[in-house]
Amino acid sequence: MPSGFDPAKSRFHQTLSGDALNTPPPIWLMRQAGRYLPEYRATREDAGGFLDLCYNPELACEVTMQPIRRYSFDAAILFADILIIPDALGQKVWFEPGEGPRLEPVTTRDAVATLDLSATGEKFGLICETVSRIRAALPETTALIGFCGAPWTVATYAVGGRGSPDQAAARGLAYAEPQTMQMLIDVLTEASITYLCAQVDAGADTLQIFDTWAGSLPDDEFDRWCTAPTKAIVDGVRARHPNIPIIGFPRQAGTRLAGYVEATGVDGVGCDTTVVLTDAVRDIPSTVTLQGNLDPLLLVAGGDPMLRRIDHILAATAGRKFIFNLGHGIVPQTPPENVEALVKHVRRQTA
Ligand code: CP3
Repeated sequence: MPSGFDPAKSRFHQTLSGDALNTPPPIWLMRQAGRYLPEYRATREDAGGFLDLCYNPELACEVTMQPIRRYSFDAAILFADILIIPDALGQKVWFEPGEGPRLEPVTTRDAVATLDLSATGEKFGLICETVSRIRAALPETTALIGFCGAPWTVATYAVGGRGSPDQAAARGLAYAEPQTMQMLIDVLTEASITYLCAQVDAGADTLQIFDTWAGSLPDDEFDRWCTAPTKAIVDGVRARHPNIPIIGFPRQAGTRLAGYVEATGVDGVGCDTTVVLTDAVRDIPSTVTLQGNLDPLLLVAGGDPMLRRIDHILAATAGRKFIFNLGHGIVPQTPPENVEALVKHVRRQTA
């Protein structure tokens, strides 16, 4: 691993890759770099478009570091997006200002066949240059999380051409043409393994797989499109990097969460806001680190309700390998001072 990073000195790794029950728990927040920070909005302005920012190693490193400077989180997360993979594979991807991602939908076998694994090198290379810069800029005790979107979640955007409340386009394709969906999932899985291994080679010491839309999959479709490709990524990455800790985040998996953890072999699991933490503590083996799950909207509201909920989360996970986080990403209207109050409150905790 490049730089002087020593996992043994990182509280994040003492928990995730060791068996430390740290009090207070390590903390980072999903989407900790983003529009709620004025300095992010300024850098974003300088970069031009959102994808221009992702592919600019100097500026992407800068925005990754912004929340670390403010809050000294125990981990940084690479600044990029889950749609880098379809973009690198040759699908047309752009961000509509004020709206979100748009893609030229891939819905046929022929269209899936144009996605080109051999074309990803240049764009993955830029992201990995960002990873190396971040590692060099971070304090030695701060972990660096690399990530990708899980194949199913990326497929919901690749097929639908945009975000949607119900992922209807991808679910419809999975039913009508399962072989086409399988081809798409397979190419995304392959690209994810290459991409994550390259991030580790560049200095990422932890990986997270975001399956934001896992919850839209019914019953056995969940195993086929969420669990199986995630397990393939975990196995594929571990074949080259046996010791890299991997956190899975199958959002709104509900009663399928423990089965996902067992089948995929992830080291840690992100709990969304709907997970009852005492159930997760009971149902998921104690060797697996839990991460979560404050409601991002409670972070917007702040004050006593937020502090009481933090206490509840800490009490429910006491004596457990646990990383404090939100149950989903920070939203743009979050007051930065509430993040400060959150971090202070978690770190006030004593054994
Ligand atoms: O967490 C971090 O700080 C690291 C960076 C990161 C971004 N996106 C930056 C981003 C990460 C880990 C992601 C993951 C991501 N991207 C997910 C999975 C996690 C989740 O939130 O559910 C998904 C589904 C996406 C796809 C995506 N990217 C959407 C739907 C949008 C538009 C919605 C929005 O919040 O604007 C984005 C854009 C995006 N990705 C922004 C950021 C900071 C905002 C873009 C801007 O600055 O205009």
